[in-house]
Amino acid sequence: MPAAQVVLSLLRMNQVRALDAGNLTVTVDAGCVLQTLQEVCEKAGFLFPLSLAAEGSCTIGGNLGTNAGGTQVVRYGNTRELCLGLEVVTAQGEIWDGLSGLRKDNTGYDLRHLMIGSEGTLGVITAATMKLYPLPVAQLTAFAAVPSLEAAVQLLGLAHRHLSAGLTGFEVMGQFALSLVTKHFPQLRVPFQNSDAPYCVVLENSDQESETHARERFERLLEVAMEDGCVVDAVVAESITQARALWHIRESIPLAQAQEGLNIKHDISIAVSRIPEFVRLTDALLEQAFPGMRLVNYGHLGDGNLHYNVQAPSDVDAEDFLKTQEKAVNAIVYTMVDQFKGSISAEHGVGSLKRAKLEQHKSPVALSMMRAIKLALDPLNTMNPGRVLLRRCGVALRRVRETKPRYSQTG
Ligand code: LAC
Ligand code: ZN
Repeated sequence: MPAAQVVLSLLRMNQVRALDAGNLTVTVDAGCVLQTLQEVCEKAGFLFPLSLAAEGSCTIGGNLGTNAGGTQVVRYGNTRELCLGLEVVTAQGEIWDGLSGLRKDNTGYDLRHLMIGSEGTLGVITAATMKLYPLPVAQLTAFAAVPSLEAAVQLLGLAHRHLSAGLTGFEVMGQFALSLVTKHFPQLRVPFQNSDAPYCVVLENSDQESETHARERFERLLEVAMEDGCVVDAVVAESITQARALWHIRESIPLAQAQEGLNIKHDISIAVSRIPEFVRLTDALLEQAFPGMRLVNYGHLGDGNLHYNVQAPSDVDAEDFLKTQEKAVNAIVYTMVDQFKGSISAEHGVGSLKRAKLEQHKSPVALSMMRAIKLALDPLNTMNPGRVLLRRCGVALRRVRETKPRYSQTG
């Protein structure tokens, strides 16, 4: 990593440039805070669906740079799926105006998708054109206790069938994760704490017709799910306040686990259908290797994305456990992820922390294409150096620089 680096803040580039109601798009500066964008769109009668716990402070440029996920991905996709066009300052200092509001454009390589999720390593995103949706007429939230992870996946299938595009959220939470919320935030009332159900699910149904229609469909879904045995108990929020309270439980898990102590964290994705098998096998391997370890397992089951975090046994010092066992824990989890053809970073990205892991778990062919792209777009390695790719890329870059005069001499 170079000795000196510059941190670039785009917070003053924070304007919503234009909202095209007919085209269902909004064009916005990269430094606009996500919540501000959501509010501007809502005032104009539209939904900008990207939604995550940090929305009050994160910016749309950061969301694009990291291809942020959040809690509505099951319906609207990641930030990538919401973006139609970008404005980017390249490593050469040129401005690429790719602010297209086009939904169809097959004119060669999709540069937008190269930039999205590149974590600032290919250029600086300065603005974007994003998709809008009609505001839902009604939104309902349910909290359900399920007898197993298999049952949660079965419920997800039923929810897709019964609610179709109305299914806008599907999150899973292990009982241990929920017990940490109760322990550290006793003011929050977590439903079904005394039930034997090993997992709970938060589901959201957005409806374009009416609240009555939404409620009827939701209740029918839960009825069928109970008949099928994939839900043992469920509550549907009666008001927006209750719905927020149910979501708040889910959103409090990361804070509650931090209060409990350090975690060995994993942000993994596996094909939804294979998640129960993955968890059963990996839980068992971890329990065998680290008796008494505690699994804080929760996440975006609708997207096949789990935050599968390992906490020290209650009688072991968490810091010590992290220091001495992190490698061994990771080896078990990531080997299983590989076996299940999953991803070692579903939504949190690579940064500098996961560069070495990327080298181990991504295919050499994919890595070599990534290096070629980095080299082509940022040959001097000025864009967020030391992130995503390991230094080997820097070595290759130096080689390019050293050989450059010869190329220019021979023309
Ligand atoms: C969440 C963060 C950890 O899903 O991604 O709560
Ligand atoms: Zn998450």
